[in-house]
Parts: sequence; structure tokens; C-alpha cells
Amino acid sequence: MGKIIAFVSQKGGVAKSTLARGVASEASKSGLSVKVADLDTQQGTFAEWHRIRLNNSFNSIGSVEVFAKAKDAIDQADHYDLLIIDGAARASSATLEIAKIADLVILPTCASRDDLTPAIRLAHELQQKGTPNKDIALALTRVGTQSEIDDAREFIQQSGYQVLDGELQEKPGYRQAQNDGLSITETRYKSLNEKAD
Ligand SMILES: Nc1ncnc2c1ncn2[C@@H]1O[C@H](COP(=O)(O)OP(=O)(O)OP(=O)(O)O)[C@@H](O)[C@H]1O
Ligand SMILES: [Mg+2]
Repeated sequence: MGKIIAFVSQKGGVAKSTLARGVASEASKSGLSVKVADLDTQQGTFAEWHRIRLNNSFNSIGSVEVFAKAKDAIDQADHYDLLIIDGAARASSATLEIAKIADLVILPTCASRDDLTPAIRLAHELQQKGTPNKDIALALTRVGTQSEIDDAREFIQQSGYQVLDGELQEKPGYRQAQNDGLSITETRYKSLNEKAD
């Protein structure tokens, strides 16, 4: 059975799909067989991005599929080195189901308290329902200044949850790249790619 990484959140627009695309493109480049389960049945954001990617003749990142049921997505892990689950906004029972089985659950969050508080609340809920603390990590996304980053890291540290090293800065270049089917490590700006990496 391959490894499973899931991106989940309570709030929308915190860069779940953005990070999932980045991890998928890098993992695929490094030679892993990758499956992406897009659980956002309403938008199919990841799947749509991948369609644009293929239309623009960029490398396929593997197999991308939209799933309505978390269980069907999880079953895919048997056939790939890495299963990436791009969750829909608003944690649900599906989120809990995914979190229990994933090797790593990443909760992307912007740096404001309005975003951090629901992310930490979701982390609590996942933990209470059986996801080990070591499998949960927050990731800072769409950040602006260093002081904002420092403040957010301190706030997260007090909650007792891990936060991934590095953070994703808010940059139009990241949006632009994704409009064309490219990931945050594939923008036209070398410095943005290196930071995202
Ligand atoms: N670092 C960034 N800099 C600039 N724009 C960004 C960045 N990260 C994400 N965005 C943009 O913000 C929007 C939301 O990002 P994304 O779709 O990845 O979030 P999401 O958590 O998957 O949202 P949803 O909850 O709707 O699934 C998108 O338009 C995306 O291009
Ligand atoms: Mg999304």
C-alpha cells in the first residue's frame, strides 16, 4: 500500500488544491507513481487544472480522479506509490475517515486568527476522533510579512500541533502558473519556484 497525504480544511480557499498540485507535480517528477483523488465534487478544481495542464502539453502528473466517497478514494492507495487527497472545504465525516487512514494530514491555513482558529479546531477534532498528533501538520499559506509568519508560528506552537517548515507566500505568480496548469514549483519565476519547493 502506498503512502497517503491528505489536504483538508474547514475554511475554503486556504490553498489545499494549490499545495496538493505542488506535491503531486514534484512527486511525479521524482519518479513516484501518483494518484490524486479530488474530493471536491462541486468544483473538481484539481481535475480541471490537470485537464488544462494536459491541453497545454505539460507533463501529466499521473492519474487524477474525482471521487464522491472518501472510501473509494482511499482504496486507490493500493495501486500507487503516493495517493494525494485534495479535500473539499468544510470538514465532514469524510474528512475524519480520510484523516484516520492517511499517513500525513496537512491542514493548510492562512496566518490570520480567523483562519488559524478553525484550523486548530479541526486538528483537535481529528485528534479526538483517532488521528495521532504526529500525523497532523498545519501548513502556513498565502502569507505576507515575516512578522505575520512569526506570530502565526507562535500561535500554532501554543496549540501543540506541528507546523511544516517554510511557508507559501501570497504571490500573483502562483495564481498565474496554476491558471495555465502549472504548479507552484513550475512558475516562470525561479525565486518563486525555489521558495515553493
Ligand atoms: N500562495 C498563493 N498566492 C496567490 N494566490 C494563491 C496562493 N495560494 C492559493 N492561491 C489562490 O487562492 C485561491 C484558493 O486556492 P486553492 O484553490 O488552492 O484553495 P483551496 O483550499 O483548495 O480552496 P477550496 O476550499 O475552494 O477547495 C485560488 O485562486 C488560488 O490560485
Ligand atoms: Mg480546493
